[in-house]
Parts: sequence; structure tokens; C-alpha cells
Amino acid sequence: MLSNSVDLNSKIPNNVGLADDPKLLRALEKWLPNYLEWWHDMGPTDFEDKPVYLRTAISVDTDGWANYGHVRMPDYRWGIFLNPRQEESTIRCGDDAGKPAWTEVPGEHRNALRRIIVTQADTEPASVEQQRLLGHIAPSLYDMRNLFQVNVEEGRHLWAMVYLLHKYFGRDGRDEADELLLRRSGDPDKPRILGAFNQPCDHWLSFFAFTMFTDRDGKYQLAALAQSGFDPLARSTEFMLTEEAHHLFVGETGLDRIIKRSAELEKIDPNGDVRNQGGIDFDLIQRTINYWFTYSLDLFGGEISSNAADFFATGLKGRYREDRLDEHRALGQSYRLQVVDGGRLVERDVPLRNAMNEVLRDSYIKDCERALRKWNRTLEESGSPNRLTLPSRRFHRHQGIYADHKFDPAGNLVSGETWEKEHHRWVLTPADNAYLLSIMKPVYEPGKFANWIAPPSRGIEGQPVEFEYVKMHD
Ligand SMILES: [Fe+2]
Ligand SMILES: [Fe+2]
Repeated sequence: MLSNSVDLNSKIPNNVGLADDPKLLRALEKWLPNYLEWWHDMGPTDFEDKPVYLRTAISVDTDGWANYGHVRMPDYRWGIFLNPRQEESTIRCGDDAGKPAWTEVPGEHRNALRRIIVTQADTEPASVEQQRLLGHIAPSLYDMRNLFQVNVEEGRHLWAMVYLLHKYFGRDGRDEADELLLRRSGDPDKPRILGAFNQPCDHWLSFFAFTMFTDRDGKYQLAALAQSGFDPLARSTEFMLTEEAHHLFVGETGLDRIIKRSAELEKIDPNGDVRNQGGIDFDLIQRTINYWFTYSLDLFGGEISSNAADFFATGLKGRYREDRLDEHRALGQSYRLQVVDGGRLVERDVPLRNAMNEVLRDSYIKDCERALRKWNRTLEESGSPNRLTLPSRRFHRHQGIYADHKFDPAGNLVSGETWEKEHHRWVLTPADNAYLLSIMKPVYEPGKFANWIAPPSRGIEGQPVEFEYVKMHD
């Protein structure tokens, strides 16, 4: 029985009627201690005993799903929530567009669906692992709280995907759910599945860039899966998207506050030297944008992809806001791509269905461009002459048709020699990371902020900025 109300007293809060499915309940209750053990080993362990001002989902209603209060993270109620069923759910794209959506996994799509779900699921614990030590150098209690909010919600997203694996994929699904707790971000022997989720994120400039650019890839993947013909997946991801919006807010405003502060420090310094004032200079901010934006572009998959065509054709994965498009078959249309041919960039038309990864990447890039415009407005208002840009989608790629070539940030082909000579000016370097770690010292006093970042314009959920968002001495 699915309803808006959540069974909060159950060991696993849920609105999917777990109590009526004893076998599934038992399987998930067996997974629960393993999850908590993973959280204890790989989450923000050193802050487990600190009460954090967190929001917890207690219902999936528009105004009931976010409930705020101080909670110790291991006591957070990770639960399973699906958006209530729309009576007339249909397959939204591909050859069967308009037919009733699947409420069970169709045998012929079982492997593809499992792979889609496991790949999405794997990113959730990965990012918690990447961010596990950031509390030690938090620029304020406000920021620290936001970090932990993101962390517990990524944990909940893992629950959402593990529920699907357990409920719909039998033995294989349970095995996959176990393995999600065994892979480790950056571990050479058992790495996480996708590249960006194995990159170190060990300071706050990377954290903000990660939540801005990499969580934003998540938004677009989830939005495409929210259009899935597999109805339980569509409804899980719809609810995840409501939480994801906060992660994107943390990243976008975090970078905006750094940019604002850097412009102030630039003005204060007699030589306009931001680093001389202990701040983060604009070249370094640009290299960080270049680094995380491009690793995030890789997550969309190959530019020309028969998998993407199949996922679309079978209705497993739609485009961004597929339901608002006029046409859902994408047949007899083409997409124009830049490809490298004989050492030059040339245009090539590919069937639209094969370019679905690129279509989703376009939606993502447009969204990133909007954020860049906003940051540049901050610079303009601060009277700074600096401007930030997004690099070309061809630059610094590790996946897809551009990965075998070298490009400059403007997207021009360059030689390997030029790349070797210039790349330290283009993407985050070990020296950058060392500098950032040298200026990032924890600030745990309510209302105080590190020198390298401006305070936010307002606090969380109507609380003042100087509210004790994390109780460090409780
Ligand atoms: Fe997530
Ligand atoms: Fe997220």
C-alpha cells in the first residue's frame, strides 16, 4: 500500500508498505547494520557525536517532507520514499511511448535496468567517502551543517536504490546491494564505478565545485531516470531530485561566496594579490571549475552511443523533461557533433537516438552556463575586472570521442607537448591543493567564517547565520 504518509516508527521509515512484505523487510533489515557499519567506517565518523541541524523527510507531501532539528548523524532516519503513484503512468519515450509504464521489471530489460540502478547507486556512497574528512577544515558551522546534510541525503539516496535492487532484482539485486558497501572511492583494487567519484575532494573549493558540477550531473541523470518507463525507478528518482536541489544550492552559492570574498581581498591588497591576503585567487578558482566541470562531463557517457540509443528506444531513460517535449520517438532526426578526423575537427551528423548522452549533456552545460553568468554578475557588482568561464566540452576529457586527443580550454586541438607544458595552468594541480589545504583551518565559532569565504546572505530554514548549526561542545 503506497501512501503519502510515512511509517516513521518502523526500523526503516518508508511509504512503500514494507510492513506488508515481510521477506523484503527482513532482507533490508539485514542490510541495515552493514550500511551503518559502512557509514561509521567511511562517513564523517569524527563528528558522529555532534548534534547537527538536519532536515529529515517525514512525508513526501510538498510541505511535509522536510523536518528540521538537531540530530546526531548515526541517528538520522534513513528511509525509503517514493513519490505517490500517478494513476496513469505511461512509458514516456521511445518505441513504446504512451503504453502503460512497467510496475515490474520486464525480463528483456532486466540487465540494463540493473546496470542503470547500480551505476546511479554507486555514486551516492562514493561522494560520502570523498567528503568524509572535510568537517575538520570547515569554514563555518553553517557550511559544516550543509556538508553533513548532503552526506546523510546521499546515504538516503543509496537506500532508495538499494530498495529497488532488493525488491525487483532478487538474489542478483541483493548481491549488488552488498557490493555497494564494499567498493571504495579512489581504491585501486575496488574503486567506485565512475571516474569523478574516485577523484580526491579533500578541501572545500573542491567540495563546492563537486556539489556544483558533479551533483548537477546527478540531477540530470536522475531527471532522465524520472522519465523511465520502469515506474518504481521514476518515482524514486523524482523524490531524490527534491533533495538534490539543496546539494546544488550548496555548491553554487559556496562558489559564489568564495568569488565574492576573493574580489574583496583583491581590493584590500595594495597589489590586488588575493593570495597575499590568504584568499583564493581567480586563476585557481578557474582551474577548479575546469577540473570538476570536465570530470562531470565524462559522467554523461559517450557522445555516440548505442547504449544510449537502446535506453531511449526501450523507454528506460528519457531526455531532460521528456514529458514537456512534443515528440517522444526521436526518429528520422540527427544531431550534429564535432569529431576529430585526420587531425582536424569536422562536423558529423549522427542519428539523434545515438546522441542522447550528448543531448542530456547539452541541458547540463546550459545550466552550468547560467551559474557562470551569475558568478560573473557577482564579480561585476564587486567592481572586479575578473571573469570566469566554462571550458569547452572537448577539454580535459577522459571518456568519449575527445578523450584520445588534447584540447586547450577553448576547445582547440593542441599537441601533447603543449598539453604537458600548459596543463598546470588549466586544471587543478597538486600545488593548488597544497595551497588550499594550507589556508583552510576549521572555524567552529557560531557566526564566524574563514577569511577566504564570504558569509551567506541568510541562514537555514529561517535560522540566523550565527545559529549553532552544529553543536561542537554538546
Ligand atoms: Fe544523491
Ligand atoms: Fe547529491
